[in-house]
Amino acid sequence: MAISPRGERILPDERLPLGGIRAYMPALMSQSQSHIAFPHRHLLGIEGLKAQDITALLDAADEAVSLSRQVEKKRSILRGRTQINLFFEASTRTQASFELAGKRLGADVMNMAVANSSVKKGETLIDTAATLNAMRPDIIIVRHHCSGAVDLLSRKVSCSVVNAGDGAHEHPTQALLDALTIRRTKGRIQGLTIAICGDVAHSRVARSNILLLTALGARVRVVAPSTLLPSGIDRMGVEVHRTMRDGLRDADIVMMLRLQLERMSGAFVPSLREYAHFYGLDEDKLSYAKPDALVMHPGPINRGVEIDSAVADGPRSLINEQVEMGVAVRMAVLEALSHHLRKE
Ligand code: NCD
Repeated sequence: MAISPRGERILPDERLPLGGIRAYMPALMSQSQSHIAFPHRHLLGIEGLKAQDITALLDAADEAVSLSRQVEKKRSILRGRTQINLFFEASTRTQASFELAGKRLGADVMNMAVANSSVKKGETLIDTAATLNAMRPDIIIVRHHCSGAVDLLSRKVSCSVVNAGDGAHEHPTQALLDALTIRRTKGRIQGLTIAICGDVAHSRVARSNILLLTALGARVRVVAPSTLLPSGIDRMGVEVHRTMRDGLRDADIVMMLRLQLERMSGAFVPSLREYAHFYGLDEDKLSYAKPDALVMHPGPINRGVEIDSAVADGPRSLINEQVEMGVAVRMAVLEALSHHLRKE
């Protein structure tokens, strides 16, 4: 929650009358000092964050949404700082989102194209980390296909590290942007019923979302065939359902997951057609949820597999809002870490 110069609490909502949060904006995100209370040097996962850390990031992201909707979007919190985006896996929206977020805060952003790098010549992750570290970046954003790789890299460098997705482990900024989208459309997270459906077993998005949404008091369900449920999932504090009819009943939010075909070895589903028939979200299955239920998907979508085009492009879809919130959440994360960047 932001505080006005007069000490009042400001609702971080663009529905405020003109002169609301915008009137105070120059005193907030334009400063070269961040006001976010975030006691961590890296963001490696949702695991390890307290509910208050998450709420602080979401409140700051609300301000970043207002800022991003202005004509002049640039602030100076990261002026003179260097951000490297190191993506070992293909990505469009996440990489573009981190790049825009860094630039809006004034950082110099470099995208490392791993396809053309020394990694292809056999360099190890640790060698890459040491080489980049010697260039004295302030923040490295890393996506890697192995779970745990980002944590390992963070121990080898002297700058802040943000996990942009490691294997099937965590994708913390995706969970934060999903939470921001839910909070802004439903007004809260606590007490909502949220059904996370599909390829839970291979999904870092599901893992981070379960950790975040349960920490903020949502009732979380996972819905999938047994082959796509990881063992021990019930120990994460979720209800487990194997049919869309049961899992979507009275849900406020239906969060679909992409079938992670690239992470599957062996047959997890008999055929894509059969999977779409039983688990693909169409208007019929969506009618099991509450009449005002909203639909989310982290993208990229497999149209006609886990989600029908009519639903993905329909009035209850939040997919475009999620993309917009992605930039804002990443601005909030970069700003929060700016407290901990080296001073000399
Ligand atoms: C997700 C990812 O890469 O983990 N996508 C994203 O970040 N936009 C989800 C996915 O690929 O299914």
